[in-house]
Amino acid sequence: MTEELDPVKVMKQEVGRAAAARVQSGSIVGLGTGSTTAFAIQFLGDRLKSGELQNIKGVPTSFQASVLAKKYGIPLVTLDDVDTIDIAIDGADEVDPQKNLIKGGGAAHTREKIVDSLAKEFIVVVDSSKMVDRLGSTFALPVEVLPMAVTPVTHAIAKLGGKSELRMGIKKDGPVITDQGNMVLDVTFAAIENPAELEKTLNNIPGVLENGLFVGVADLILIGEIIEGKPSVREF
Ligand code: A5P
Repeated sequence: MTEELDPVKVMKQEVGRAAAARVQSGSIVGLGTGSTTAFAIQFLGDRLKSGELQNIKGVPTSFQASVLAKKYGIPLVTLDDVDTIDIAIDGADEVDPQKNLIKGGGAAHTREKIVDSLAKEFIVVVDSSKMVDRLGSTFALPVEVLPMAVTPVTHAIAKLGGKSELRMGIKKDGPVITDQGNMVLDVTFAAIENPAELEKTLNNIPGVLENGLFVGVADLILIGEIIEGKPSVREF
């Protein structure tokens, strides 16, 4: 029986491979979260195992990234152990023409923003469905909130024109709890006119830990595409 190839999975695999190929021996690597970065972590592990890549260390952005790094043999360090991050690889939920992002589909955007912002080079790995003309057009904006502040933050966001929905667990009753023990509001705005301003305004609401707008952080976007039935990777 032949296995049907899922085109989205193939695109994610190819960009993951392309990003992992850019990592050089001796690098400190920010390890992002999500299904696309998972392939990059796997391919980094393969390169280490084959001896093609040596002496890298990973800084994980989530529990998921730590688990995968351990599985694929990538030694881990924390931000207390390193002075700099040479390169970070991470996915995104939306990418606009200015390389601004919405992240947080996996509720990991707070640690992701810390690690990705510190990297000398931040590479974003996405399949072509993530490219949008304007942020917020296909994906609600994730906002991490301290549990005691969910109601006042919801009201403050409503005053800004946002409709908040508390993210609920799958195969777990009740809300999603982040790696930091907080909750996530998925916020829909009619339009996000000025991502840089909204990022700051949201983070200024007491009780908000971090939101998923990443403005001016990404250096390179690797986009997985299927062209005439064949997977390819476009640089942007
Ligand atoms: C994790 O919270 C997110 O920021 C992910 O990086 C983002 O949702 C992309 O995930 P996928 O690669 O699974 O689409």
